Amino acid sequence: MIKNSSEKAMNKLVALCKRRGYIFQSSEIYGGLDSSYDYGPLGVELKKNIKEFWWQSMVQTREDIVGLDSAILMHPKIWEASGHVEGFNDPMIDCKNCKRRFREDDERVKDKCPVCAGELTEVRQFNLMFKTQMGAVAEDASIVYLRPETAQGIYVNFVNVMQSSRQKIPFGIAQIGKAFRNEITPRNFIFRTREFEQMEMQFFVKPGSDGEWFEYWKEQRINWYDDLGIKKENLRFRQHGKDELAHYAAAAFDIEFKYPFGWKELEGVHNRTDFDLKRHTEYSGKDLQYFDDATRERYTPYIIETSAGCDRTLLTCLVDAYDEEELEKDTRTVLRLSPKIAPIKAGIFPLVKKDGMPEIGHKITDDLKKHMPVFYDESGAVGRRYRRQDEAGTPFCITVDSQTLEDDTVTVRERDSMQQDRVASDKLLEFLKDRI
Ligand code: GAP
Repeated sequence: MIKNSSEKAMNKLVALCKRRGYIFQSSEIYGGLDSSYDYGPLGVELKKNIKEFWWQSMVQTREDIVGLDSAILMHPKIWEASGHVEGFNDPMIDCKNCKRRFREDDERVKDKCPVCAGELTEVRQFNLMFKTQMGAVAEDASIVYLRPETAQGIYVNFVNVMQSSRQKIPFGIAQIGKAFRNEITPRNFIFRTREFEQMEMQFFVKPGSDGEWFEYWKEQRINWYDDLGIKKENLRFRQHGKDELAHYAAAAFDIEFKYPFGWKELEGVHNRTDFDLKRHTEYSGKDLQYFDDATRERYTPYIIETSAGCDRTLLTCLVDAYDEEELEKDTRTVLRLSPKIAPIKAGIFPLVKKDGMPEIGHKITDDLKKHMPVFYDESGAVGRRYRRQDEAGTPFCITVDSQTLEDDTVTVRERDSMQQDRVASDKLLEFLKDRI
């Protein structure tokens, strides 16, 4: 029953995403590629807004964090040092008959293959990193990996960034970028995919102050989702037990969100200790210690990591914003996205396609689009135009009507309350900016 309602909720969201141009199945005309998705015109705007909001909060508005954009392909030794070659595994079981692969913890897997009832293999470790070859000759020396996390690009640049930006500990390095994992069971739309984007920040601190900074970042990060407009009651922390800690972590908390398929991880906040920098010192032979001028101390910094998935945040925004409102005659589907991140800020409609209304509508569109993304629409009944923008998550709709011709005011309808205000055309920008 729960499964059915959760599937139904997700199916509705997936259909809306396609209908309104948020997310499409990748390679759809070829039958699709499992767990790969493309962001359409509205999806790409929403994703960009989320990334900008994160960057603003984590880098732009702080003096103790700087940015980085490191390469996806890095020296293969990095992944030996990080422990990913040896330890980034999922235990899995194969079917000897149909060759399907299952995670060991898949509830469907008992004695036989849940798909064809074939015989199963023993549990084997399956490394989640994508391997590829660099250069034309296929030999071991040329094997490189697609990074499974952006964090390592930060660690190996720790000294470069610190020296060039003249930062002193405590300070952080932030990065947004693609990561790849050959997940055995990608599922739940864009929740778990094999190619995804991360928004990660590594904060370097003096050993001993790590506990305090860990608490600080937990607080900062959960508040960020609140600022993003996610409902508080859909967010919570979950502490990792000793047996589930990643190989690098001394302590870890997930920020979880209540998805239709249950409470699941949205972001991880980890105390990675000095594990990564010490391992890179060992494997590269380069000194990655910090020298404190004031106290004359030399030490390997501890790292507090905040690691968020960009695609997962986007899914979270959509799930949290999706609503079906029962009206007198029908049901209104509305995406109650925060105006801060909504892809289109206002729809502009002439009531009818005559009497100079389209010209006024175009003029308003041209004026506003210098400041924010807006969308002009004159097709169909105005009620249908409102509904299309409700589904797209557009917070305001501006209608040019017969009164506009008399007093140069327009109707501004707010998406969530459907309340309508009369606003003078020359005050529109101010009106919208105040509310966005
Ligand atoms: N650097 C630490 C790290 O990567 P993680 O908990 O494995 O930690 C961090 O991943 C975040 O990246 C997750 O909370 C999630 O938002 C996102 N993420 C991880 N795997 C993902 C996948 N297969 N698809 C989409 N997002 C993923």
